[in-house]
Amino acid sequence: MPIEQLNAVMSERRTALQRELDRALAGWPAEFTLEIGCGHGHFLAAYGAAHPDEHCLGIDIVLDRLERAERKVTRAGSSNVGFVRAEAGLFLATLPGSFRFHHVFILFPDPWPKRRHHKNRLINPEFLTTLVPRMAPGARLYFRTDYSPYFNWACDVLQEHPAWRLCDEPWPFEHPTVFQNRAAGHWSLVAALRQEAP
Ligand SMILES: C[S@@+](CC[C@H](N)C(=O)[O-])C[C@H]1O[C@@H](n2cnc3c(N)ncnc32)[C@H](O)[C@@H]1O
Repeated sequence: MPIEQLNAVMSERRTALQRELDRALAGWPAEFTLEIGCGHGHFLAAYGAAHPDEHCLGIDIVLDRLERAERKVTRAGSSNVGFVRAEAGLFLATLPGSFRFHHVFILFPDPWPKRRHHKNRLINPEFLTTLVPRMAPGARLYFRTDYSPYFNWACDVLQEHPAWRLCDEPWPFEHPTVFQNRAAGHWSLVAALRQEAP
């Protein structure tokens, strides 16, 4: 696709996402908890029900997973949990600058095991840099995977990143996801900013 056409497509997607975010986040506080790659929403629906004072947004790229997620929170009657179809990078580029994350959860992301695909992993230096100004004071990044090479990679990337540090803290809330139920085991990490953003 020629670059002009690609730019036009990206600009259209961004405009559509902007509209969707305006709708989904209307009346929300400036800080909310984000789950990236929320799948069927098992975790966030349960987390939101247990934390009624926290607004929680789940994003994923697969529409039918989000529709199921939406049905869960409707059944539970939770008005503090929402879902939006969005790719993580585009979401961060489009979200109005006034919003920050109370916490960010990334649970069982696609592991991209082949070396040439490692650049597609959600946890990577550029992505972590983009997250920095979005983290509210005291915010945590919670990451869990069933693929130990990705866990080790994520620890290394976080430790080597100038803005992030690993925290020796417990996992804040347990509720199994679809992929957690399928996995033989998993590894979890908690990370925070070395210095909180102003
Ligand atoms: C392996 S599944 C895990 C789903 C869920 N977290 C769980 O534990 O059951 C990974 C999810 O991330 C979503 N995903 C992958 N890349 C994404 C991206 N760049 N932005 C948002 N969601 C993404 C996929 O559509 C999929 O639902």
